[in-house]
Amino acid sequence: MRRALFLISAFAALVASAASAEASEQTARGRLLVQRYCAGCHAIGRQGASPHKAAPPFRELHQRYAVDSLAEALAEGILVGHPAMPEMRFPPNDVKAILAYIKSIQTEEHAAAQPEGTARGR
Ligand code: HEC
Repeated sequence: MRRALFLISAFAALVASAASAEASEQTARGRLLVQRYCAGCHAIGRQGASPHKAAPPFRELHQRYAVDSLAEALAEGILVGHPAMPEMRFPPNDVKAILAYIKSIQTEEHAAAQPEGTARGR
């Protein structure tokens, strides 16, 4: 009986760690994708300026809208309205990975430190 309990909890721990490994794998894949497709113009890290002056750094995207709302744009051909930006489409798994990465670098403190309406450039 003891042994069975031990096995059950060991199994549960294994499942939990597999789930978080999968999540961080997705984040890592997202980072590779944005490095390949977006880094030419956007700052994709936790600091640094964007190579293209007009392109917002990814860590600040949440200041403009919910990052999840990007999913559709990425899947259907991103942001067709921005002439400076090429139209790109990504399969669902890539969309998830890109969003996981972008979420992982959002600067919450930074956003909170900035009162509504100041220094936003809009
Ligand atoms: C060739 C340069 C270039 C590349 C490559 C590029 N972008 Fe952009 N992106 C821009 C520019 C410039 C803007 C600002 C456009 C504007 O505000 O009119 C922008 C804006 C954005 C915005 C904000 C739009 C808004 O309404 O504020 C998002 C989100 C975005 N890009 C995501 C991405 C993602 C994700 C990738 C990679 C898959 C990518 N971009 C690749 C140039 C680029």
